[in-house]
Amino acid sequence: MDFLVPNGFIKPDFKGVNFELFRNDCVQVLKALPNNSIDLIVSDVPYHIVIGSRCSNKQGYPAKKQGKLFENDSVEFCEYLPLLYDKLKDNSHCYLMINEKNLAKLQTEAEKVGFKFQQLIIWNKGNALPNHYYMRCYECILMLRKGNAKDINDMTSRNILDVPNIKAGTKVHPTEKPVELMKILIENSSNKGDIVCDPFMGSGSTGVAALETGRKFVGIEIDENFYKVAYDRIHKLATST
Ligand SMILES: C[S@@+](CC[C@H](N)C(=O)[O-])C[C@H]1O[C@@H](n2cnc3c(N)ncnc32)[C@H](O)[C@@H]1O
Repeated sequence: MDFLVPNGFIKPDFKGVNFELFRNDCVQVLKALPNNSIDLIVSDVPYHIVIGSRCSNKQGYPAKKQGKLFENDSVEFCEYLPLLYDKLKDNSHCYLMINEKNLAKLQTEAEKVGFKFQQLIIWNKGNALPNHYYMRCYECILMLRKGNAKDINDMTSRNILDVPNIKAGTKVHPTEKPVELMKILIENSSNKGDIVCDPFMGSGSTGVAALETGRKFVGIEIDENFYKVAYDRIHKLATST
């Protein structure tokens, strides 16, 4: 199992395989990766309501939090966005999946570190839960770029993506995303052999999509159980091809 606690500089060398998986805090792993080394970032980022911010609290008191999705959901936008920006190559894309409540804050924080807004993409999940204020049947995908604008590969793609959600009861992660959805983003913003990174890989859907489309994958997950799920999915795929 690739349980790696980086201490210094890591250069993914993809020894005999097309992926590098890290079970750790993505902030620590990203710091150790070389700058300008990633061709595309695709990630479904954790979010929570934060009272007080570690980033603005110079005395380092832990932020009070509420609304955590996962036990390890403690990372804030301002901790990892500057690192994502530094690690991404110039003139490349970054897709971050987020809910509508946190979209504005994520975009503001991303633009502060240098990302440019490129597009808002809506994932139409097909399913919906009863709600007092209209049933929610979509999620937001914030498309950003670093450097100059770059065309996507399929310019007939629309910014509403109709991809059925994974059926309840069959998910291996509570917020597991369909591989087909990740493939659309990956195929539009990278080429075969490119390096795709997901710093919050959960069950590894981005990794599966990257490998199935002939890309290389760098995945990071802090939770041991989710990491094992991703590791198993990605290793199984790599050994079956
Ligand atoms: C929204 S989920 C991603 C789900 C994924 N898209 C899938 O299809 O399974 C976000 C993931 O980020 C992980 N996470 C939270 N904080 C993290 C951190 N600091 N470093 C790495 N992973 C983290 C959580 O454990 C969770 O699995």
